[in-house]
Amino acid sequence: MLDLVTAPVTARIAAHLGVPPERIVALYGSPAKGVAGDIALPCFQLAKARSTSPPALASELATLVNGADGVQASAAGPFLNITFDAALVAAALLPALAADPRVALRSAVGVQRTVCVDFSAPNIAKHMALHHIRSTMIGNALAHCYAAAGWTTVRINFLGDWGTAFGRLIAGWKREGLTLADLERAPNKVTFLNQLYVRISRLEKEDPAVEDEARQWSRKCETGDPEAIGLWEIIRTASVAACQEIYDLLGVAFDDWRGEAHYRDAMGPIIAELRAKGLLKEDQGAQVVDLSSVGMKKPCLILRSDGGSLYTTRDLAACDDRFARYGFSRALYEVDLGQSLHFKEWFAVAKLLGRPYADSLRHVGHGVVLMWNDETSTWEKTATRKGVPMMLMDIIQEAIERARAVIADKNPEIVGDERERIAKAVGIGAVVFNDLKNGRTGDVKFKFEEALRFDGETGPYLQFAHARLCSIERKFAETHPSAPPADPKLLRLAAEKGVLLAIARLRHALERVAESDEPSILAQALLALASAIASWLTAGNHDPALRVLCPDAATASARLALVRAARGALGEGLRLLGLQAPERM
Ligand code: ARG
Repeated sequence: MLDLVTAPVTARIAAHLGVPPERIVALYGSPAKGVAGDIALPCFQLAKARSTSPPALASELATLVNGADGVQASAAGPFLNITFDAALVAAALLPALAADPRVALRSAVGVQRTVCVDFSAPNIAKHMALHHIRSTMIGNALAHCYAAAGWTTVRINFLGDWGTAFGRLIAGWKREGLTLADLERAPNKVTFLNQLYVRISRLEKEDPAVEDEARQWSRKCETGDPEAIGLWEIIRTASVAACQEIYDLLGVAFDDWRGEAHYRDAMGPIIAELRAKGLLKEDQGAQVVDLSSVGMKKPCLILRSDGGSLYTTRDLAACDDRFARYGFSRALYEVDLGQSLHFKEWFAVAKLLGRPYADSLRHVGHGVVLMWNDETSTWEKTATRKGVPMMLMDIIQEAIERARAVIADKNPEIVGDERERIAKAVGIGAVVFNDLKNGRTGDVKFKFEEALRFDGETGPYLQFAHARLCSIERKFAETHPSAPPADPKLLRLAAEKGVLLAIARLRHALERVAESDEPSILAQALLALASAIASWLTAGNHDPALRVLCPDAATASARLALVRAARGALGEGLRLLGLQAPERM
């Protein structure tokens, strides 16, 4: 999008240096803080190729382009800083944006490629906790961004629905003589299962016979015993319904729900193949793959000594299945960084097996979430209230409640269903954006008051900017009922150019998200856009001539077109990150 503005100056520089324009485009960046200019061209590489010094080349190029094509340029050391004429920027960008502001974000870099995004993947029979927000919403944002960048996406929820926990749960269920009716009666089915798990685990520690029962039920699950599988199914159905409630609230959907259980028997062929290729070794009764040839000290466990399947093997089997069904050219695993070794190991096994997809696997890790506890004034890894753990649903509900109070206070005109809808959008937006705004590998701190602020780097701040633009659009119809068509040339203010350039930068941000799997790049670009919008709109506070709804109808009309473009681009950016964009707040 930005190339619509830079094309003439890029062409001039490229012709002068005898290099392809793409080389110049790839080098563009933002000028250093406090330096005037819309974009900067660092001259290091280009100077090297011409055996000159970067500052000398920057000056040479400044002389070349300054004053031409509505451009002002100056050298600052090794950088060439370029400033574009505001009306020129508007003429280049506004027509496309006015037609459809989403074009600012659409890209085709991924066309004809498929990406599988494995995300959320909670272990069932437990409540989703605050930390599940990370994989769920980073994964969701990545899937959206890849789609906007032209990729075909497959959203996969690899449910943790298999493993020894189920043997334990079933042993407890049988011991206590529970029935489906008992589960149905429970006010919260997942809590019911959780408590059962806690009781049986406690008993297991005291009584070896219970431990044995749990192991036997695990084995019965592995061998497909009908009673065991029947009970497992009951547990799974209840847990999936609880997860679905959260996904519905968050607006997250999946294309593929094949969980670990789906691959419980699929390891046979993989093990046979590993054996045939001489990759399998016995180690204390278990089967392992030696990874020393790829520089890893520890071998990868493939088959337990009791013959049971393992997380690693199930991941391998699932990946084979996905490759066969989707033919992906990239597969992302949005899973916390604590599982890095797991992914390193099975990615290495896939490589040793010669899988064609082995180099397209990416573990997209993230750090932990810490939640502020008012009662103890500490950051907690497991959120609690009065000593009781707070689950993800509790946190979402509290955020919605708090948002409802803020909205009632700020805009008492919004009532009833509409207030409810907006409270949901804002409460959830606060939780979600807090998770996405900083680099995913870092740890995230969550504090209700901070996340819900309408000023500062929050979801509600972006949503508020969007609602403010919507409100200007509504008023425009009253104040300027018969305005002329928008003429881009009338957008002459530096603040207007700032908004246009911030919109144009979104596509570049989006493309970088799909390269680096880092949604915070888009989150930060949206914050920059919102701040450009705020500077523009506040300029009108003291001077009616600077307002969007200014007395001059032609200027007002051009400004309204920019309002629409900014609102559309901001709304689309929020959607990609998994936030709603209410029209009033
Ligand atoms: N269920 C796992 C857990 O909660 C996460 C699964 C992630 N995805 C995967 N393909 N391994 O720890």
